[in-house]
Amino acid sequence: MGTTLPHAATGLPLCFIHHDQPENNMSDQSQESLPQAAPVEEETSTESPELRSILDGLKSLVPQARAAISKANDLKGLDAVRVEYLGKKGHLTEINKRFGKLSTDERPIAGRMLNLHKGEILTLFKKRTDDLEARELEDTLLKETVDVTLPGLRPPLGAHHPVAQVTRQITDIFMNMGFSLRYGPEIETEWLNFDALNVPREHPARDMQDTLYADRGYVLRTHTSPTQVRNMLDMEPPMAVITTGKVYRHDSDATHSPMFHQMEGFAVGEGISFGHLKGVLHEFLEAFYGAGVKVRFRPSFFPFTEPSAEVDVWSDAHGGWIEVLGSGMIHPNVLKNGGIDPEKYTGFAFGLGIDRLTMIKYNVPDLRLLFENDIRFLRQFQ
Ligand code: PHE
Repeated sequence: MGTTLPHAATGLPLCFIHHDQPENNMSDQSQESLPQAAPVEEETSTESPELRSILDGLKSLVPQARAAISKANDLKGLDAVRVEYLGKKGHLTEINKRFGKLSTDERPIAGRMLNLHKGEILTLFKKRTDDLEARELEDTLLKETVDVTLPGLRPPLGAHHPVAQVTRQITDIFMNMGFSLRYGPEIETEWLNFDALNVPREHPARDMQDTLYADRGYVLRTHTSPTQVRNMLDMEPPMAVITTGKVYRHDSDATHSPMFHQMEGFAVGEGISFGHLKGVLHEFLEAFYGAGVKVRFRPSFFPFTEPSAEVDVWSDAHGGWIEVLGSGMIHPNVLKNGGIDPEKYTGFAFGLGIDRLTMIKYNVPDLRLLFENDIRFLRQFQ
């Protein structure tokens, strides 16, 4: 029955029909009719008008779909076409609904044709989808192209902390005078921090209230002066050395911080006098505050210097003298502890508070501003 129908009606390759109906012994006929399609009129005689119409409908659907698909210019438009052809109310469903009117013999024939055309339409969709996706990707890539000639985003510019700026300025001044720069540890032996500097056992500075003690025999250095002895033990006179760094004391208010910065300087050699000390400090203060700065030496006392002097600088902003450093001639006991013969050599030493110097130079009213690291404060030093 109807073995010649399908190929005759659709003009589709016979092999398709052949494979799908292995139970029908149609090989001879189909092989024979393969080279030349059987005349359509002759074949139509056996098919019902309904099947004829369904098959015609299916046949014309492919070129229609092809045209609609190639007209769709974006994925959205293509999806609309997909609904029109393959959707629940689409053309293929409409045709499928008409299968009810076919005989049980004709129904599978129509079914196979429907699947075949549907497959072809699906392939067209797939191909177009791929093309459009590629095109849209290309479009976005083009749109998102980076213009490398546009100006870049500049990272915010940082600046040195005012204390760091001042530290650099003062070390520059002393190094230009011939001092060398050396560092010492912040955790120091009690011996170097006090004993070697001629500070007696019962001195109030050693009190637990003033000094921050670390392990047995160690302290957080309370000043940079222990570097004097360290360097003496390490070098041969003549020597002129400065050190900068953090020091620690049990103290905290508007003018005292538990951690602050000092610079130590000392020189040891033959014939070094108090005159050298005054000359060096005058030269330094003029270089730092500007020529004409008013400087005052005041007699004072330190266990490690004899004689000792404190140095004040006149400040118009504060309307008075401000103490900026301690100094003196190195005590013979300290020279001895540093392995230096006090009969042959003499030396001077001075220690200054870097934070103090910074406050005076920039008119900072409260020492704590220097350690809070408020960005609005620090920006003013850019
Ligand atoms: N070390 C003393 C201080 O911290 C300063 C100083 C240094 C005084 C060197 C004299 C000589 O106050």
